[in-house]
Amino acid sequence: MNKKVVLAYSGGLDTSVAVSWLADKGYDVIAYMADVGQGGDYDKLKKRAITAGASKVIIEDLKEEFAKDFVFMSLKAGAVYESKYLLATALSRPIIAKGLVEAAKREKAYSVAHGCTGKGNDQVRFEVTVMALAPELKIIAPLREWHMYSREEEIEYAKENNIQIDTTKKSPYSLDKNIWGMSIECGILEDPWNEPPEDAYQMTTDPNKAPSKPTYVEIEFEKGVPVKLDGKKRNPVELILKLNEAGGKNGIGRTDLVENRLVGIKSREIYEAPGAWILYHAHKDIESLVLDRELLHFKESIALKYAELVYYGLWFTPLKKALDAFISSTQKQVAGAVKVKLLKGVASVVSRKSPYSLYSKEMATYDKGDKFDRSVAEGFIKVWGMPYKKGV
Ligand code: ARG
Repeated sequence: MNKKVVLAYSGGLDTSVAVSWLADKGYDVIAYMADVGQGGDYDKLKKRAITAGASKVIIEDLKEEFAKDFVFMSLKAGAVYESKYLLATALSRPIIAKGLVEAAKREKAYSVAHGCTGKGNDQVRFEVTVMALAPELKIIAPLREWHMYSREEEIEYAKENNIQIDTTKKSPYSLDKNIWGMSIECGILEDPWNEPPEDAYQMTTDPNKAPSKPTYVEIEFEKGVPVKLDGKKRNPVELILKLNEAGGKNGIGRTDLVENRLVGIKSREIYEAPGAWILYHAHKDIESLVLDRELLHFKESIALKYAELVYYGLWFTPLKKALDAFISSTQKQVAGAVKVKLLKGVASVVSRKSPYSLYSKEMATYDKGDKFDRSVAEGFIKVWGMPYKKGV
């Protein structure tokens, strides 16, 4: 039997232990690291995988593809899960799993593995993606199979197997980061009554300590996608990172959510997504200028569904594909510029303009030059209200 397995490896405790556990079981382990902007010392993590028993480490920079084909699709859709989560973690899983599948094919491996826990959403996202893209691959989930249920047991195992984990400077939280944002859970946050302590936040300044002078950013969109920042052309990754920086300094994009996991439990997680929230508000604002009422309202209902699909791991599915086609068709004229004011945790759009603007000052004005024909309003209201006029 082909005992080659490609493991989605992050370099953290779970996946490092997984390398060793799989190698122990006789697998030839290839560690696959996708760079989606999580940061870290990749050389060190590569060495760690080799010491833990991997025969090879593949590191792939997926940031550009992630920004263009995943993050910006979700931005165009306006997807937000349960009003507070811009889906940074959820969006990264299908692209990592896709990279994993492609690596498995190149390496002629018969199975893939991941280091997700058995009670989270990520296991679902990884596995459903693999099932959709390469049904022939066997999927191994070491964390569902082994009998180490606490971090302490895993640390013990790591020590016994010479895996170098820096447990001392380990954060008391579980973190997941990429260019689109940071997810933070566990530790003291597990009690939803506990206010998140300042040390939980990784990307943003405390809004109270943020500058009292506003920062303005001007974002230009073409076909629903941001292309310029403050008048300068920027590639997708650059643009998001710049906004993370500006937003982070101004304490933008913190949310605190008790969310419904796909596996049926409620969990509490806090999120930081400074650039993502700025872009979300900016994009929505340009849409309000260029989309007609019916399209705008209908699209809002799609946004909800789209967020569910992303959260539920259903990225590579027919419905998602069909919704993408619809969303793309709505974005042809989503172009123009938006100015956003960043101040003490709040990102407010203060100006917008578009060559496709449907806003007509002549129609809207209460001043001189009004072109709205008031005489037709009376008849319109009579017909509109007819069904509700009782006893006539
Ligand atoms: N609850 C989020 C989701 O399911 C994030 C999960 C990962 N969070 C973490 N801190 N490791 O998409």
